[in-house]
Amino acid sequence: MSEPTKDLIVALDIGTSKVVAMIAEVQPNNGFNVIGIGHHPSRGMKKGMVVNIEETIQTIQYAIEEAELRAGFSVRSVCTGIAGSHIHSFNSSGMVAVKDTEITQADIERVLETARAVSIPADQQILHVLPQQFKVNDQDDIRNPIGMTGMRLEVKVHIITGSVSAAQNIVKCIRRCGLDVSELVLQPLASSMAVLTQDERDIGVALVDIGGGTTDIAVFIDGAIRHTAVIPIAGDQVTNDIAMALRTPTVEAEELKLRYGVSKQMMVPPDSVIEIPGVGDRVARRVKRQSLAAVIEPRLEELFVLVQRNLVEAGFEHLIASGVVLTGGTSLLPGMTELAEEVFMKPVRIAQPTYDGNLSDIVCNPRYATVVGLLIEARRHKGEDVGLHHGRQTATRGKLKLESDSQNAILPRAKASRVDVNDGSQQSVWTKMKEWFVKTF
Ligand SMILES: Nc1ncnc2c1ncn2[C@@H]1O[C@H](COP(=O)(O)OP(=O)(O)OP(=O)(O)O)[C@@H](O)[C@H]1O
Ligand SMILES: [Mg+2]
Repeated sequence: MSEPTKDLIVALDIGTSKVVAMIAEVQPNNGFNVIGIGHHPSRGMKKGMVVNIEETIQTIQYAIEEAELRAGFSVRSVCTGIAGSHIHSFNSSGMVAVKDTEITQADIERVLETARAVSIPADQQILHVLPQQFKVNDQDDIRNPIGMTGMRLEVKVHIITGSVSAAQNIVKCIRRCGLDVSELVLQPLASSMAVLTQDERDIGVALVDIGGGTTDIAVFIDGAIRHTAVIPIAGDQVTNDIAMALRTPTVEAEELKLRYGVSKQMMVPPDSVIEIPGVGDRVARRVKRQSLAAVIEPRLEELFVLVQRNLVEAGFEHLIASGVVLTGGTSLLPGMTELAEEVFMKPVRIAQPTYDGNLSDIVCNPRYATVVGLLIEARRHKGEDVGLHHGRQTATRGKLKLESDSQNAILPRAKASRVDVNDGSQQSVWTKMKEWFVKTF
């Protein structure tokens, strides 16, 4: 396998059902072109978290090797995601005095530092500090205050935290595959980057990514993220229900769900009949296809009610004017839009990643919403590294400081870079002043 001669980005989505790696070539104007995909059924993950290190390592290796083979390049580091019921989020705010009256990137980093100075449990770490809006003196609702003049800069942020050990387990598995982790991104955040339109974010939208082990929620209002949550119920529960109710092995239940599953009983023709394989040496039975839908519908309805309750409790249910956007593998079940609209009483659409480059027939699938979002994030990161300014709100993301020891401290990028830059420049100014003083006097 050759070393990359092109500028590459790599995303790795370690899901409960599948592990998928995508390698893309960087294109101008924030674009990218997918050149390799590796997809392998997941083992070692449960409800979005690593439960078996060795099995997870093996599936990551398979997915990466397949992607490398197709791309014709070997990779060194990946941008990956995190989810699970250990994820918590809340809103916070910060304020600083502006020294030079004109607001600079350094002031934004300072005010974000003050906003993130909140106490969190020792077993949790901050993954993201996402600016929602800035206020300069008494003028609020500012999206990008750089260059504005003022004495006081305030910010409202959305902070996302996750379990230290859950994050370390993901990093450990990837590092054991000989790869580095460039970024760790909350999965619903990644999915939202891949499927939401700017209009939806501005008007107000709830993204619901229903995968195998988790249902991930992200709410955007007035263009900014307001709420995130992870519910540990998704497609795997539907499969389990089918296995229990129709007394068939789990593998057969999954197959039945994929081939004949419908989320609304009413949508199935009453005379349609399917064959259910028996457990062990029991003979197969023929049942109405409606019976299968009768198992699926209540579970998904319950899931939508849980999502709705979460939105109501967070205080955003009445603010999502553009409705709900469903993505993830379970959104592929026929009838999901109809069922979700009945529960949410709002417009619902099924979304796939917005992408029109190479391999778009494969990439544009709701199951790949997270991995495409990770590629977008990796591309943006690359842009920042070469000094591009996107003129938009930048997130203080969970950046991994890859240290030589096995402790993978997760530090926000702003904190790490600001300290380094300030220390270095202050030191050199003092050194120069001292030299000048000695020479002159
Ligand atoms: N065509 C389909 N129709 C119905 N369900 C489907 C279809 N394809 C996949 N699924 C279901 O979607 C789920 C997997 O979705 P997805 O690939 O988004 O999950 P994941 O990212 O691996 O898991 P998670 O995000 O929960 O950790 C499984 O439960 C699977 O049965
Ligand atoms: Mg997923």
